[in-house]
Amino acid sequence: MAVLVTGGAGYIGSHMVLTLLEAGHEVVVLDNLSNASQESLRRVELLAGKAPVFIKGDIRDRHCLDALFAEHSISDVLHFAGLKSVGESVAEPLRYYENNVAGSLTLCQAMAAAGVYRLVFSSSATVYGDGHPMPIHEGLPTGRPANPYGHSKLMVEDVLRDLAKADEHWSIALLRYFNPVGAHESGRIGEDPNGIPNNLVPFIAQVAVGRRDTLSVFGNDYPTPDGTGVRDYIHVMDLVDGHLAAMQVLTSQRGVSTWNLGTGRGYSVLEMIKAFETVSGQHVSYKVADRREGDVAECWADPTLARQELGWEAMRGLEEMLADTWRWQQANPQGYSD
Ligand code: NAD
Ligand code: WQD
Repeated sequence: MAVLVTGGAGYIGSHMVLTLLEAGHEVVVLDNLSNASQESLRRVELLAGKAPVFIKGDIRDRHCLDALFAEHSISDVLHFAGLKSVGESVAEPLRYYENNVAGSLTLCQAMAAAGVYRLVFSSSATVYGDGHPMPIHEGLPTGRPANPYGHSKLMVEDVLRDLAKADEHWSIALLRYFNPVGAHESGRIGEDPNGIPNNLVPFIAQVAVGRRDTLSVFGNDYPTPDGTGVRDYIHVMDLVDGHLAAMQVLTSQRGVSTWNLGTGRGYSVLEMIKAFETVSGQHVSYKVADRREGDVAECWADPTLARQELGWEAMRGLEEMLADTWRWQQANPQGYSD
């Protein structure tokens, strides 16, 4: 039996594929390479000493999915495939809903037709919306996400909850990620954003390596200790370990379960800059700019439920997250196109 990883050539997916191969799983990757390079999987193969099966294809393509399930015996689906740029989603909502929502529906239809009912879905803390007291636990109601990207995640969550209610075959994990950062400790695979990075840590890393001049700090007048936004950054290798733990738990339970994957600790933008300077020995030039629309002041997880029910918790601290980011960035200043 093999594990199907949709979006497995992407940032988180490639780290997941490596971890799965190292844990002895057979892996099939389905990725349309819309936001990834197959070079990530070539490097995974070098690191793991074995390769996943790679299928270049789209989760919206039912024929492709049917052929995949007919050819490979799949036990579990880890569903990372999706578009993730918040700004793009505001400009192109139809593309986001089509890819993320319609794509997930087609995937579930093909799974049910093939009799595959174990699914781990990449959700996001963005589904909680604004206005909750910190830290955020899974019992809080979901809110109204500030953009179509976040909304697409909540819509898929809703679909999956309805699906599991209607058909008791399904075992589904909704994993709500906080802010994944870092890279594999080898520095061979990591995050390779297209164009100007939207997210803080890749931007800082590109300033430190000399690829960009100055970071804009989006607002220093938030009601936080130093006025800048506070987030729960989680090492990507901890995040993928959380998926392994969820896969294991799903083998013995039905229905839908929701788990936060975060560390339970928040850091401000200024703390992140300072920590990156310490780890890299580089100066990170920044200027304070206006707040970015849609940003919340603070967001960090209560990770208790995952610890209790998955036996998982994040093990890697901020220094390790940033040191691993820096190793990857230095070795691959232009990402996979070096
Ligand atoms: P990524 O863009 O690096 O990876 C997504 C992968 O999916 C890419 O390789 C892309 O080519 C592929 N893909 C996109 N649409 C596809 C389609 N229709 N068919 C097949 N493949 C398709 O992003 P990531 O950071 O690795 O994120 C993985 C998942 O986790 C996404 O669903 C994302 O929304 C979710 N997530 C990410 C973050 C984050 O900050 N990185 C936070 C919360 C949730
Ligand atoms: C972190 C902090 C910014 C860039 C986003 C998505 C979310 C999730 C993860 C997928 C904030 C500040 C950032 C910059 C800055 N993705 N910042 N200058 O906004 O918490 O979450 O990615 O689900 O849905 O919204 O992450 O890394 O963009 O920002 O000052 O150039 O850094 O204001 O306080 P965010 P981020």
